[in-house]
Amino acid sequence: MRNRLTQVRGTTLKDKADTEIRGGTEADRLAVDFDHHDAALNNEVLNGVYSRLLAGCPVAKTSAHNGFALVTRHADVVEVEKDGKRFSSAEGVMHPAHAGRAPSIPIEFDGAVHTAYRKLFLEVLSAPRVRGIEPYLRDLTERVLDAFAEGADIDFVERVAVQIPVRAVGHLLGLGESANEQLQAFARVVLEHAGTPAMIEAMKELDALAKTHLDERRAQPRDDYLSTLVQLDFDGRPLAEDELLNIIRSFVFAGFETTARSIASLVHHLVTHPELQTRMRSDSASIEGFVEEGLRLFPPVHTMFRTVTTPTTLHDTPLEEGERLVLLYGAANRDPEQFADAETFNPDRANARQHLAFGIGAHYCVGATLARAEIRILLEALAARPPLELVGAPRHLPRLMMGQMMGVDYLPLRFNGDH
Ligand code: HEM
Repeated sequence: MRNRLTQVRGTTLKDKADTEIRGGTEADRLAVDFDHHDAALNNEVLNGVYSRLLAGCPVAKTSAHNGFALVTRHADVVEVEKDGKRFSSAEGVMHPAHAGRAPSIPIEFDGAVHTAYRKLFLEVLSAPRVRGIEPYLRDLTERVLDAFAEGADIDFVERVAVQIPVRAVGHLLGLGESANEQLQAFARVVLEHAGTPAMIEAMKELDALAKTHLDERRAQPRDDYLSTLVQLDFDGRPLAEDELLNIIRSFVFAGFETTARSIASLVHHLVTHPELQTRMRSDSASIEGFVEEGLRLFPPVHTMFRTVTTPTTLHDTPLEEGERLVLLYGAANRDPEQFADAETFNPDRANARQHLAFGIGAHYCVGATLARAEIRILLEALAARPPLELVGAPRHLPRLMMGQMMGVDYLPLRFNGDH
């Protein structure tokens, strides 16, 4: 069954003008034949596609990639995410699921096994742990910004947005500054070649780096997370080597591109809206609101899939066992039923934290506290420096990378020392 916009609400002249401005006919096509891997699904059309889907039938279906259902409304995404029994993650959260790849820990597990694996991440990502590394994050942020201010490279993405989360993840794992070069080389490949054979090669290199460190910790345990992992009693047994590598991959893969894209997209919005920079600088209490609105309007992760485990309905749409569905976070975050004046960046929005950029429920992003801390600390540091200004043309990712990621990819900036 094709996705049909059967229930489009009354169209006014203003809506019509908005429609033409926002993505035009390409957005019309993509809203009817939605395909998260379509090369035309770029930042220009994405939000036009979402507004059409939100105005259409609540749970539409597309025929792309053997067919799947589209969950766009905030309440429906919440219902799916909070019911892991009806909507499983174990068949893969990407679509098509990668054949021959081991399921990712913890995100592609359900129930008790998922809970046990998730605890391993909370060891270092719980709120008290993140509070404990805030002094490190502040110092790191100042060092990264100093280097950017003094350096010749004007790309804020490469020099700042990527540096902070890559280094933070290395620090958390206990890899230390010496591994940063390798982690950054790996980050560059993931950022530039997401989903390609080059990325699979880079994953192998990451495994090799992780193996060396794990062997070192087995021979000589230290006071760090990798040593904890190799010594751990996991339900009466040690973690196997492939589980350990899987966990480290998840940390690195989930932990930096997401946060880097969030930082880049939010800072891009600030430099193109100078009045917001002024507000942020004059009112430090509003900074948390800036972080949440950035995550709501520019989520880096746009899609996660689930599989229906039993015949059911969602918003009156029948779903069969085995059907796949996609959670479209970028649409849910702009759902007018949930967020008044949803398209406006409003740091004073009372319910901004209800955005779904981190998901919700059992799989709620286990790195959310860390990501929020990294972004907030960066904004606080920027508020104390001269304003940033654009010195060239920024670029977004050309399309939804791996059918999932969107964000600013190149952001030429400098601090305006005249202020
Ligand atoms: C702005 C930054 C981030 C965004 C927007 C983000 C987004 C998400 C989303 C949407 C999910 C939910 C997936 C689902 O329900 O299927 C998730 C899960 C996850 N995230 Fe994040 N993430 C971010 C940062 C991080 C960081 C910094 C880490 C770790 C260092 C991390 C590690 C994970 C892990 C391990 C999961 C799986 C949790 C589970 O299945 O229980 N994320 N993330």
